[in-house]
Amino acid sequence: MSTVPTGPTTPAAVPGQSTSPTTAAGTGAEPADALRPHAEEAFADELAALAAADDRPRPARWRLSPWAVATYLLGGTLPDGTVITPKYVGPRRIVEVAVTTLATDRALLLLGVPGTAKTWVSEHLAAAISGDSTLLVQGTAGTPEEAIRYGWNYAQLLTHGPSRDALVHSPVMRAMAEGRIARVEELTRIPADVQDTLITILSEKTLPIPELGSETQAVRGFNLIATANDRDRGVNDLSSALRRRFNTVVLPLPATAEEEVDIVARRVDQIGRGLDLPDVPRGADEIRRVVTVFRELRGGVTEDGRTKVKSPSGTLSTAEAISVVTNGLALAAHFGDGVLRAGDVAAGILGAVVRDPAADRLVWQEYLETVVREREGWKDFYRACREVTA
Ligand SMILES: Nc1ncnc2c1ncn2[C@@H]1O[C@H](COP(=O)(O)OP(=O)(O)O)[C@@H](O)[C@H]1O
Ligand SMILES: [Mg+2]
Repeated sequence: MSTVPTGPTTPAAVPGQSTSPTTAAGTGAEPADALRPHAEEAFADELAALAAADDRPRPARWRLSPWAVATYLLGGTLPDGTVITPKYVGPRRIVEVAVTTLATDRALLLLGVPGTAKTWVSEHLAAAISGDSTLLVQGTAGTPEEAIRYGWNYAQLLTHGPSRDALVHSPVMRAMAEGRIARVEELTRIPADVQDTLITILSEKTLPIPELGSETQAVRGFNLIATANDRDRGVNDLSSALRRRFNTVVLPLPATAEEEVDIVARRVDQIGRGLDLPDVPRGADEIRRVVTVFRELRGGVTEDGRTKVKSPSGTLSTAEAISVVTNGLALAAHFGDGVLRAGDVAAGILGAVVRDPAADRLVWQEYLETVVREREGWKDFYRACREVTA
């Protein structure tokens, strides 16, 4: 019947659990120059502007209406001129379905190959809806039940016996008590019996605490976003009982090269500013080349559809393209003239493509000689790649 007071958690007592950003002082405040601020901090201005402009109905405990949450993710311009930057680039419908799901009694499962922004979208959804993206459980093969339910503060437990005060709340339990969004990353990596802990939580909206003969009931506003990789399918497949509690939304790879270039350019720009790196001009050649190479190798065919190429073992995701370009930019800044050139991205591309030293190297060499070498305007790129490959 009752809900739990949300006292400070004791992170160490719950192994395998990623905890909220409580600072050493335990204030929960973020340092002013956090290396990677949470979405709700990084985009606080946009969220505040949206909340001010938003006159549509909001589900219980939501900071924004579903419409405003979708606008936060997809970008747009508010009546007062405030520009909301797009966080997710992709089909509008996907975002609308995801947001709507969270306003129902079903949980949301974001599915897709690595690097399709599952984690990214999940963080921004939680930030926009609950103003808090930190109620997070990172799924691994070793995630224990306590990471999803609750643990015990053993010092308290031994001195005072089992009581509410001795409970260490998991992020999911806190989200239930506070009516917020909880996040579970890489759900299918979690052992099946631990996954099943979620069934009662999602169907009955309660978390029994048998040791106290009590329970924590979820209040309105609670829901859960899980992410899972397509590639992991079969590792710890979701039981059908659990799957039924979720609406599944599949995040696709970017449909066109233009879209992917846009995503990479935007993210590199954001990350680069955080690291004080020089600006990359929009539509920079190197970004287009990295994206082209990744798409061709991933798809097994050249952009013009004429030449088949072999695919290497790596995923060559958009996320990897982002990191290749960011690293290139850092190289250009620290050891070059600040302009991103072929030589700055070549080594990064090689590292992303050649995962398996034998087989992938052959695939890469063949691609270099048959496709890159012949391509007009790519001479400098070919030479730079040859240099690092040799
Ligand atoms: N469609 C997209 N729109 C916006 N950003 C994207 C998109 N696809 C990939 N990204 C970027 O890729 C990066 C990695 O995504 P991530 O959420 O870690 O992938 P996943 O969890 O699916 O493996 C993020 O920085 C994100 O900005
Ligand atoms: Mg992820």
